[in-house]
Formats: sequence, C-alpha cells, structure tokens
Amino acid sequence: MSIELLNQKKGPEISKYIYGQFSEHLGHGIYGSLYVGNNSDIPNVNGMRSDVVDALKQIHVPVLRWPGGLFADTYHWQDGIGPKDTRKKIVNTNWGDVTEDNSFGTHEYFELLRQLGADAYINANIGSGTVQEMAEWVEYMTMAGESPMSKLRQKNGRQDPWKLKFFGIGNESWGGGGNMRPEYYSDVYRQYQTFLPQYDKDHPIYKVACGPNEADYNWTDTVMKLAGQYLDGISLHYYTLPTGKWGWDKGDATDFPEDQWQSTMVRAEHMDELITKHSTIMDHYDPDHKVDLIIDEWGTWYDVTEGTNPGFLQQQNTIRDAMVAAITLNIFHKHADRVHMANIAQMVNVLQAMILTKGDKMIKTPTYYVFDMYQKHMNAELVEGVGDVPENVTYTASQKNGQLTISITNYDLTDEKTVDFTAANAYNQIESATILTAEEMDAHNTFENPDVVKEAKFEGATLVDGKLLLELPAKSVVTITLK
Ligand code: AHR
Repeated sequence: MSIELLNQKKGPEISKYIYGQFSEHLGHGIYGSLYVGNNSDIPNVNGMRSDVVDALKQIHVPVLRWPGGLFADTYHWQDGIGPKDTRKKIVNTNWGDVTEDNSFGTHEYFELLRQLGADAYINANIGSGTVQEMAEWVEYMTMAGESPMSKLRQKNGRQDPWKLKFFGIGNESWGGGGNMRPEYYSDVYRQYQTFLPQYDKDHPIYKVACGPNEADYNWTDTVMKLAGQYLDGISLHYYTLPTGKWGWDKGDATDFPEDQWQSTMVRAEHMDELITKHSTIMDHYDPDHKVDLIIDEWGTWYDVTEGTNPGFLQQQNTIRDAMVAAITLNIFHKHADRVHMANIAQMVNVLQAMILTKGDKMIKTPTYYVFDMYQKHMNAELVEGVGDVPENVTYTASQKNGQLTISITNYDLTDEKTVDFTAANAYNQIESATILTAEEMDAHNTFENPDVVKEAKFEGATLVDGKLLLELPAKSVVTITLK
C-alpha cells in the first residue's frame, strides 16, 4: 500500500495542548504520587515527588487540568489555601468517601506546574459553588494590584499573580455537575463567564464551556446557539470502553479476550465520528472556527484492578492502551483545525495513566511511551496523505524545522503490515525511528518487571530514492522522522 504525503500543501498547526493531561483529587491521582508533602521520605521538591515529575518532564506536559472532574463541582478553593494544619478536612464524596485534607491546593498546583513547565487549566465549581466564589478564586490567582484576594494570596506567601491560561466553567453539567438541561446550562454559563475577571488584558483567560457527553449532539447545538458567542472552547468527553457498557462489566484491563481487543479499537476509532459530527454542528454557528473543541476527558476505562478501592479507578495499562492512545492522537491531529486541546484521563494512577506508583516505586506505562514518541508532532504542521491504508492501520504526519515525522499504528493482532510513503520534498535521511510493540496483547509493565513494554529502535524502515518503506509488526506503534 502506498501513501503520498502532500507536504507542499499548507496544513493546520497541531496544537501542543492536544498532549494535555488531567489530574483530579481522585484515589492516588495526586496524593502519594504527584504530591507527597515536604516531610515525606520519598525524594521531593517542595512536596512534589521528584521521580514522577522527572518522568513527566521528559514528555513535556503542556497543560494540566485540575481539580476535577466531578470533584471540581464540590471543591471550595478556600479550603485549600493557608497553613496546612488549619486547612479544612472534607469527605471526597465522589471518589470513595475518603478524607481530603486539602494539603494540595492552589499554591501546590501552581508549584507542580512550575516544576513540569506546564500551563494551567482550572475547572470552576458551578455545581455547588457560587459566582462570587469563582470570581474571587480568579482574583486570588491573577490579580497583580491591590485587592482583598491578592492581599490574601500575598499573606499566604505568593507575591506575584500566576498565569491562568484556561478556565473551565462547568464539568459534565449534564450529569454529575448539576444534571442541567442544555438550555439552563447555557444561561448558567453566560452568567458565570460575565463575572470571570480578566485582569491581564494582554492575556485574557481562555474560557471553556461544558460540552457534550459522547454523541449528545443536541447539547452541542443548544450551547453553541445560546452561548456560542461567549466562549473560546467547548469540551467533549468520550471514554473508550471495550464492552461499551458502563457498570461492572466494562471489561478487564489485562485479562480480556481477543474480541475485546478489536472492540476497543473500534471504539477508539469512533472518536473520529464524534469530532466530525460535533464540529459540523459548530460550523453552523461558527463557520470561521473561532471556537475550539476541547476533548478534556478521554482514554480507556476498565473495571478497577481487583482488590482496589472501586472509587479510585485504578487500572493497569497494556500495549492495547498504547494503541488507543496512538489511534486517538492521530484523530486529534486530523482535526487540528478544530481541536485545540485534549486532556487524557488521568495523568497518574487513575484510568489511562502515564505513570503508576506504589509506595516509593514508579513505572512508566505503554501509554507514556506513545506520548514520548509523539512529541515531535507538538506545534508541527499537519501533513495530509492520500492513498489506501491497510486494514487496522492508522497514521499521522507532520513537519517542523525541516523534518517530517510520521507516526503509524498497526493494531492487527497477528499480521505484519507493509506500507510505503512518498513526499514531495527531498527527505533523504532517517533521523530517528522508534517502535513500541509486544508479543502478547496484554503485555504491560509491573513494579517487578517495569520494562516489558518500552520504546526501542525500529529497524523495519528503508528509505530509497525518496520512498520510505515500513514493515510494521502486529500490535505496534512506530514513529519515524526524516530530514
Ligand atoms: O475521570 C473520571 C471522571 O469521569 C471525572 O471526574 C468525570 O468528569 C467523568 O465522569
């Protein structure tokens, strides 16, 4: 099969924010994994766990969504500031009814961002909070001059305001965020965004409205119609469930039959249809693509690991998850003219995580390696391709700084696939070629065997007279850069 890459045609830029992450106050998503506190025996810098931060720095996390998720609509930010011993202890009613001591709050979040080099994406509480509470939080974070909230921030040790890049107004407001109807939500959104203070006129805060659940096209249509002129982005939530069923039979993360491999791939590919259809509705109200689609929750969701707290959403991560990540990122690239940010759920220890921790141990997951291999696509120009793709193969291509990067996934369980690429420019050298693959479909890393699935040098590429020939093993993700 031959694919011609149209690299002389101008393509949209693939926003680096497509590689965004999400961390919620949920199970071991933050406590013990990202944040261990200054007094921990686990090496840390200002309470942030060094091994985890170092691993995440290698994949250049561009943005981190926080504090939820469902937790956001129960979060009162003033509980999480000031001396730690006076912070309010609350019950995390969404996630396991455990005690939340609020030791990770606004200051700690921005410290984590500083260490990661990531931008902020905060979700407001519009479910059980108030307009005033939201406005004061933004004042606390972003007001440079004198005001009650900036003085409080300074009293708590932070002189300068932080940079708040993205701000979500509503999370799953159609469900756990308030069970609102789209008409009602649109009005609530309009009200809240009116009082969102914009102190830094040169860098206005980017406003994200709560968008649809999966294929709820009526939600998108209604919110775009009633509130579309007041927002920068509208979110979409879509999780990949092997069985397509919520409840206790979503499927096991490691012990699954072959047909669940295939159904997982089909459900991952479904993202393309969802983005296409929601975007078509958006085109009606926003033909110039001024409003972005923000997929701020995506990834695989299985039954929890046996013996773990069901409220902690802890799951293993196999080569199958790596396939889902690659397929999905390829789809986001394809829609780069509409998709500006995405946030995989969730960064550490929850759902489709980059990293798993246990005590002082840490492992990188197969999904982590896909994010590592795809880095060259960040802020690169999308290159469109024409030609037939073999069954069970998806690819993406982009160019930046005189280099052409192709990422290609063969999710066939048994068959190797051969594909060749041509491009108009004279790329005549392979700069790098990396593969992630495994023999077994449930291959994964454990604390005992942390390197079962990891990136390796790819030897199956030949470049002759401008034609790149790739021999892709079954169950593989390959990234190759030409110069
Ligand atoms: O990511 C886990 C949960 O999934 C989030 O809190 C919620 O927004 C969604 O239902």
